[in-house]
Amino acid sequence: MQTNLSVQIRKTATQFHKTEKNGLVEQFDKIHVEQRIYLAAVMRKEIVVSGIRSTGYLHLGNYFGAMRNYVKMQDDYNCYFFVADYHSLTTHPKPEDLKKNVFRVVAENIASGLDPNKVVLYAQSDIPEIPELYLMLNMLAYKGELEKVPTFKDKVRQQPDNVNAGLLTYPVLMAADILIHRAVKVPVGKDQEQHLEMARNFAQRFASRYGDLFPEPIPFNFGNELIKIQSLDGNGKMSKSENLNATIYLTDDDDAIRKKIMKAKSDAGPTEPNSIMPDYVSNLFMLMGLMSDPEQVNKYRTAFNDCTIRYGDMKKQLAEDVIKFLAPIRDKAKELQQDETLLRKILKDGAERARESATATLSAARRMIGINYY
Ligand code: TRP
Repeated sequence: MQTNLSVQIRKTATQFHKTEKNGLVEQFDKIHVEQRIYLAAVMRKEIVVSGIRSTGYLHLGNYFGAMRNYVKMQDDYNCYFFVADYHSLTTHPKPEDLKKNVFRVVAENIASGLDPNKVVLYAQSDIPEIPELYLMLNMLAYKGELEKVPTFKDKVRQQPDNVNAGLLTYPVLMAADILIHRAVKVPVGKDQEQHLEMARNFAQRFASRYGDLFPEPIPFNFGNELIKIQSLDGNGKMSKSENLNATIYLTDDDDAIRKKIMKAKSDAGPTEPNSIMPDYVSNLFMLMGLMSDPEQVNKYRTAFNDCTIRYGDMKKQLAEDVIKFLAPIRDKAKELQQDETLLRKILKDGAERARESATATLSAARRMIGINYY
């Protein structure tokens, strides 16, 4: 805690220095007293934004790759986490599914440890300032660069009948999500880094046309702690929508977890001492490392090295440990999902707090662009 605090103070000091050099403080001086107060407030902790996709079911890969990191950040940063429901409209979900998914994702994130009192947790569509900033940023985004984005090209391949403009401008909406709170750090996976680069470009273009308003957001991960969980059949990563039998979801019941783990890819075991471990076996060891007693991991590692390992036994142990780990999260999520009144209250409070920051940014943006007629 001590070190955390001093690191935080040093960071804030550096950031303040940088901001002053960039003229941001002066800029704000000229603008509005509330904005200066706001700036001072947010500079106590760095601002973090991340969007949670509302489609598909959350799985162990999401938990260890993203959600657990969100939870770790909630004390040290000023976190804005939101359900990206507008983004999900690109695939035209049914209205009743959309709503169900939003509530489910919120419940699952809280059950995994996100504390709505520590982070601002909200639905993107509750913040009208986001689409307004998106519109402004669209004027600074070029068709050519948007068409070149790999995630867009993938979508064109996957859904050739639905190449809508929302898909094309997805990175612009994502930039608006981030810039609306003037975030400096964005916890995302590798696949999102290009989107972040575009957000930095839009921030720069805005700056060169109208002046400094947005810091340039950088991707943020926990370095060595970045965990990639492979699917249990050894074919790529765990997935929200494919490989259902080789992915462990936060909603899986005990039996489903047992079945999936017992069916995980393995082989007859090593035939020579200290063999190189195949990927699908190291994946099982990694899961054990995350959820089992270190003693168990050591026991099976030794058994692997001296060729006495029985994968069936190892999987049995792993299944029980995964169940012990996931059952409380699953049950809590279920309980929360049944309490729509509570979830609605959480989203409403979150929206209110998110709008405080969003309106401050947007009124500065409007003024800087010249939309200040009254
Ligand atoms: N595009 C992100 C994903 O697919 C979700 C997202 C939307 C996001 N807006 C964001 C992530 C803003 C970080 C910041 O996972």
